[in-house]
This record gives sequence, C-alpha cells and structure tokens, in this order.
Amino acid sequence: MSINIRPYQKVDYEQVKSILEQRGLYEPRRDTFQELERKVDRDSKSVIVAEIQEKVVGVVYALKDGAIITHLAVDPTYKNKGIGTLLMQAAERELSEKGILEASIMVTEGLVPFHESQGYLQQPSKYVWMTKRLKHQR
Ligand SMILES: CC(C)(COP(=O)(O)OP(=O)(O)OC[C@H]1O[C@@H](n2cnc3c(N)ncnc32)[C@H](O)[C@@H]1OP(=O)(O)O)[C@@H](O)C(=O)NCCC(=O)NCCS
Repeated sequence: MSINIRPYQKVDYEQVKSILEQRGLYEPRRDTFQELERKVDRDSKSVIVAEIQEKVVGVVYALKDGAIITHLAVDPTYKNKGIGTLLMQAAERELSEKGILEASIMVTEGLVPFHESQGYLQQPSKYVWMTKRLKHQR
C-alpha cells in the first residue's frame, strides 16, 4: 500500500470535506471550497492530503500565519496505518521550510498521547478558548 503525500488540489475538495465530516472536524463556515482555495492561493502547500491509489484518505492544514497545524483527519477505513503521522511530518516540514521554529496544535484530551509520541509538549493552560461571531461588513 503506497501512501502519497501531496498538496491539495481543487478536485480534492469533496473527498476532503467528507473526511473532515466523518471525523467531526468539518466547520461549514470555515471549510468551504472557496476558503480552501483562498488558503492554497496564498500558500500552495498550506493544505496537504494523503492519497492511496488516487483516493484521498487524509488531510492536514499547515498554516504559516500563527504557525499552526489544524484539521488533521484520516479516513476511518485507513486508520492506524501511519497516515496521520506522515501528514503531521509533512505539515511540520512545510512550516519548517518557511522558517517557522515552533508549531502549535490544539487537540482534544484523548489525542495528547498521539501527539506526545511525535514530540509535542503539553503547555500549561494559560489560555482560554473564546470566540465571537462577527457582523458581516459588506
Ligand atoms: C488522529 C488521527 C489523525 C490519527 O490518524 P492515523 O492515520 O490513524 O494515525 P497513525 O496511524 O499515524 O498513528 C496511529 C496511532 O495514533 C493513535 N491514535 C489514533 N487516533 C487516536 C485517538 N483518537 N486517540 C488516541 N490515540 C489515537 C493510535 O492508537 C496509534 O497509536 P500506536 O501507534 O501506539 O498504535 C485519526 O485518528 C483521526 O482522523 N482522528 C479524528 C480527527 C482528530 O481528532 N484530529 C485531530 C484534531 S485536529
């Protein structure tokens, strides 16, 4: 089984959306086709996919603004085959090549061991997650 890691392309959108949905990471306002286009227009390697025999089986976003890795998701049919690890390594390589020295991730409690095994350190929680819905200015 050969796993190919490559930058996202427009034609991948429906498959990426489906994986994010299956993994509970799809956010309708943020993960639109247009939003992914905007991301890759600004930085062609900011969205990375894993494919097996031309089927997209995983995705990750490596965002240089904020030096953050998000949206790591693997098709459940293909879990525990090392795809998540390969995607994380690819995302880290992208950020590193852009001169970023430290990457951040926000993970659920259960995933801490997975990321610790890849060298991430849990930081004391000095931050509280807050959001605000902004009014459209158009
Ligand atoms: C996390 C995730 C990307 C891992 O993908 P994967 O391809 O199965 O990962 P790998 O095969 O590289 O690594 C598997 C290891 O991670 C562990 N792991 C995978 N998912 C886990 C979870 N939800 N909780 C705890 N450990 C998990 C496995 O037990 C395995 O450990 P082992 O190597 O000691 O046996 C995948 O489970 C997923 O899409 N999860 C849902 C989405 C999510 O939570 N994303 C991260 C938040 S942004």
